[in-house]
Amino acid sequence: MEKEIIGWIYEAAERIKSGLGDALKVDQKNGRTDLVTNVDKEVQDFIVGKINAYDPDALILGEENGQDQTPIDKGRVFVIDPIDGTLNFVMQQENFCIMIAVYEEGVGQLGFIYDVMQDELFWGGPKVGKVFLNKEELAAPANQSLSEGLIGMNAALYRKNLYHAQEIGQTSMGIRVLGCAGLDFIAIIKGTQIGYVSMLSPWDYAAGMIMMEQLGMTVIGKNQQPLSFRGREFFIGATQAAMADIQAFDKENL
Ligand code: IPD
Ligand code: CA
Ligand code: CA
Repeated sequence: MEKEIIGWIYEAAERIKSGLGDALKVDQKNGRTDLVTNVDKEVQDFIVGKINAYDPDALILGEENGQDQTPIDKGRVFVIDPIDGTLNFVMQQENFCIMIAVYEEGVGQLGFIYDVMQDELFWGGPKVGKVFLNKEELAAPANQSLSEGLIGMNAALYRKNLYHAQEIGQTSMGIRVLGCAGLDFIAIIKGTQIGYVSMLSPWDYAAGMIMMEQLGMTVIGKNQQPLSFRGREFFIGATQAAMADIQAFDKENL
């Protein structure tokens, strides 16, 4: 299955790159900085078409095209973010990813994050027992504490100091605001960030979470509960040491 998914991702990326020079049709979702383009919708349709041909019984949980309410706990579910970092895609024409995850009976089996313009594909999970960058197996990053590393941060959480975001940032070596959840997960998987604190939807965290857990790192939602896979929610992903440091800020209200 992984071979097929990697093929779809590379083909989708070619479509995105060949359309970069064309006029984008950009619409607002919830305000002027929350955008969706014709390319987001077309790429999701393209990937869903491939999934339907490969496994007609599989279910889809995808950000676009009204497919955003599927539960992940029954059957085989493909979770798709066709372009993660749409604002970067529109404004920078780089720093965006394609993300796909596969869940079977509620268990994450495979995650894929492709940094399109860097041509870097991170993929793996329990189904293959490893995580790879392209064809090379990755070692688990060092279990660094919060004070030893950089942490990815959602800008609004930091600005409003929700969930102790500023204290967490000030204890770390510094915050990074990348505008693309996939790039934050890539940084954690590579070991260049010790964590990520954000507000995310299931398609933002599914693939990254599978690979983080495969590498011995942890993710949680609000009130230190498991993520719900229903709508946008508070998210922390970190090395085990950094997670313990973050949780110590407020055992009750994180
Ligand atoms: C967004 C990006 C952003 C994160 C948001 C996501 P999108 O995804 O990953 O970095 O802060 O929470 O919604 O809308 O560009 O796919
Ligand atoms: Ca996203
Ligand atoms: Ca998206």
